[in-house]
Amino acid sequence: MNYKRNLLITGGAGFIGSHVVRLFVTKYPDYRIINLDKLTYAGNLANLKDIEASPNYLFVKADICDFEKIQELLAQYRVDGIIHLAAESHVDRSIKDPFTFARTNVMGTLTLLQAAKLYWESLPEGYEGKRFYHISTDEVYGALELTKPNGIKSDISAHEVYGDEFFRETTKYNPHSPYSASKASSDHFVRAFHDTYGMPTIVTNCSNNYGPYQFPEKLIPLFINNIRHRKPLPVYGKGENVRDWLYVVDHARAIDLIFHKGKIAETYNIGGFNEWKNIDIIKVVIRTVDRLLGRKEGEDLDLITYVTDRKGHDLRYAIDSTKLKTELGWEPSLQFEEGIELTVKWYLENQAWMDNITSGEYEKYYEEMYRNR
Ligand code: NAD
Ligand code: DAU
Repeated sequence: MNYKRNLLITGGAGFIGSHVVRLFVTKYPDYRIINLDKLTYAGNLANLKDIEASPNYLFVKADICDFEKIQELLAQYRVDGIIHLAAESHVDRSIKDPFTFARTNVMGTLTLLQAAKLYWESLPEGYEGKRFYHISTDEVYGALELTKPNGIKSDISAHEVYGDEFFRETTKYNPHSPYSASKASSDHFVRAFHDTYGMPTIVTNCSNNYGPYQFPEKLIPLFINNIRHRKPLPVYGKGENVRDWLYVVDHARAIDLIFHKGKIAETYNIGGFNEWKNIDIIKVVIRTVDRLLGRKEGEDLDLITYVTDRKGHDLRYAIDSTKLKTELGWEPSLQFEEGIELTVKWYLENQAWMDNITSGEYEKYYEEMYRNR
């Protein structure tokens, strides 16, 4: 079949990538979707069971650092668009093992860029109709102050905000963790390929995602699973850090819109104006799990265990996504209350998915991580 577009999505077996692959495979039957993933500990093909038999879907197990393999794939499938999500994504792991983050996030992105450059420049039409879309994070901007520790309603948000400043597309990069430093570096390479070679690139920087299929080393799925099994909930520091949470499907919707309608060489911030202190979101999660499991609401609050803080722990993230709303009309579709209810329900109903991941190697890793705190 002659497909209208041939898209390479990297990291499609991970958390956000699997939602993006699902959306594109189902919404665009006339696009061929090639999911390239190395299947690291974070990649899981079970995340895509429901669409794996779709005729327009193809999985390739490969490393984004493998230049020859990437070159071969781009030409073989005549790839005209790349949505790049593959990365090492967990801050705590980056503190223990920064090299892996530099390799995958920096060298892997550069490898993809250079392979795409050589392939697209070899075609008669060159860069026309091509797109390299890089998915990045708000963590590249550093950390914001907590100038309103008790939270107030703001003009631009229906929700509480915890400070006067927000991350905007113009905010200066100031990454603190090895993870965010590696993502910042990859963002710079992507922009450099536009500025130097004219590659049609786009970068988006998104806030914390939550929802189904997230690897249970991240706060929300980890805590849902621990509450279920009545294990301690390790809250870093005093639980005062603020994060801005977005339902993962809304991130995937934004990616779809920006891939098709976003302006070349632009940056868009993606976030839901939904700031929460860790300790507050943890209490919401505990109450929701308790209620859905038929326990007395709040009976597991005593699982909260304050532990040594994360090194260099960023205090507050808060995205201003006004540009995306004004220019492209994107808004989150779900209120946080609905999103968290759906998320907790999904993890409780998909215990087999969780058990597969939390057995074996990961269990050993996690126990050691926790013991070292
Ligand atoms: P994830 O860790 O769940 O998934 C990453 C995927 O990349 C996995 O499937 C893994 O196997 C694959 N991968 C890792 N190294 C690879 C390599 N060398 N070659 C090929 N594949 C490789 O990550 P996520 O949370 O879904 O994040 C996806 C992207 O979105 C990342 O670039 C991340 O920086 C960015 N992001 C994440 C969030 C968030 O809240 N999770 C927010 C903003 C931006
Ligand atoms: O902001 C976007 C980023 O969000 C993404 O770029 C990252 O890939 C993603 O992992 C996420 O980073 P965080 O470090 O904010 O997410 P994490 O779920 O690890 O932690 C959320 C907050 O909860 C953070 O302040 C640390 C805290 N925390 C986390 C864990 C795992 C705890 O207090 N205890 C924990 O056990």
